[in-house]
Amino acid sequence: MEDKLLIEGGTRLNGRICISGSKNASLPLLAASLLTEDKCILKGVPHLLDTCNMMKMLSGLGAQVSYQDGQVTIQAREVQESGQLYQYARKMRASFLLLGPLLMRTGEACLPLPGGCAIGNRPVDLHLKGLTALGAEFSVENGYIKASAKNLIGNEVSLDYRSVGATENIMMVAAAARGGTTITNAAAEPEIVDLGNLLNKMGARVTGAGTSCIRIEGAPDLCGAIHTVIPDRIEAGTYLIAAAATGGQVRLQQVVPSHLQLVIEKLRQAGVPIEDDRGELVVYPAEELCPLQITTGPYPGFPTDLQPQLAALLTTAAGESTITETVFENRFLYTEYLQRMGSQISVNGSAARIQGVKSLLPAQVKATDLRAGAALVIAALKTPGKTEISGLYHLDRGYEKLEEKLASLGAHIRRVSDRAVNL
Ligand code: EPZ
Repeated sequence: MEDKLLIEGGTRLNGRICISGSKNASLPLLAASLLTEDKCILKGVPHLLDTCNMMKMLSGLGAQVSYQDGQVTIQAREVQESGQLYQYARKMRASFLLLGPLLMRTGEACLPLPGGCAIGNRPVDLHLKGLTALGAEFSVENGYIKASAKNLIGNEVSLDYRSVGATENIMMVAAAARGGTTITNAAAEPEIVDLGNLLNKMGARVTGAGTSCIRIEGAPDLCGAIHTVIPDRIEAGTYLIAAAATGGQVRLQQVVPSHLQLVIEKLRQAGVPIEDDRGELVVYPAEELCPLQITTGPYPGFPTDLQPQLAALLTTAAGESTITETVFENRFLYTEYLQRMGSQISVNGSAARIQGVKSLLPAQVKATDLRAGAALVIAALKTPGKTEISGLYHLDRGYEKLEEKLASLGAHIRRVSDRAVNL
């Protein structure tokens, strides 16, 4: 039986919420804890399907892992491959972030090739190319990547694309390898900076994280560390957009406004007043929602992970908006469901054209991936009537206490099992 979200939309969101720790920072930080035999303590890790899966994989590899109120304590005194890894690795592309640390600790790794997903085929060639430059060897057998590395030594690595995951895998190996590594055309996301900060606490010397050129001096014996995860900028952006969509006034606490600079600028362009009040963000009702022209791109560009949510907002803007998606090749699947709710969206290749309508209509819709689910929640919140959203597995991967947080802002939202909805 699949759960569904029932949302009675049309009410303004008002109040304040705390943003959780970043999912996309937590996952590489958890993987990096394998690089040392010492104890690592990560604070502010959100309780999500993805972070729980990563913790299960770490314990499946022999690490001691405990989780209490956002604090994860991990100690990998020894690491050994285990079959248990694979059942989780298949479910989550981010399991590929274990490749580098496993190579460092054991000299070998065997991981399932991350399957493509709803948003694209998502190859790992840049990970393999970068790690090969540091001395790793790879073969692909029956859908698994088999990796070995007798001697990992720092080197110059240039990425053909500013891949977040590839940058993170290379950073983790370089941090524990002998010698220096320079990564050019590196990803510059805040999550990369957070990983660099942890690796520095562990004894590596990382400089330039957050720019396109990262320098890493490896330290063969990395030590344990205590580190607090940065706030989740994508969760924060999702709530900013949800508040704007319902014409409410919402204060976001535990955010880093500078991580959302372009998002805030674009929402202001759309007529949404947003105030940076001593490090907290307050969003106010817009007089009128203006259309936008948006192109997604690697940080500090407009984040692809907020593209569906923004589209949901723009379905009722006063005019025509366009969204061009340059990061993933198939991130408009959600538009089918927004159309079912009465939006005027047409997709042509990597661009979506959105003609604003007065209001959407309630409907039964389905999340096709994590951020598509967030877009449908936003559309449902602003639409009078009862909308039913299925595919909640996706939402549970990336939004901690979603219903709780929205209900605390006045949303009429509840999770029901399939049986109850049919009654
Ligand atoms: C990270 O994924 C995020 N996930 C994604 O967030 C995010 O959308 C993405 O970065 C882009 O910002 C995590 O951090 C766990 P990439 P990642 O490697 O590392 C291509 C969410 O909703 N590529 O930067 O997988 C790839 O196909 C998720 O929270 C290659 O071609 O992203 C894609 O088109 C979704 N070869 C583009 O680069 C490679 O070896 C971006 O991928 C690697 C990537």
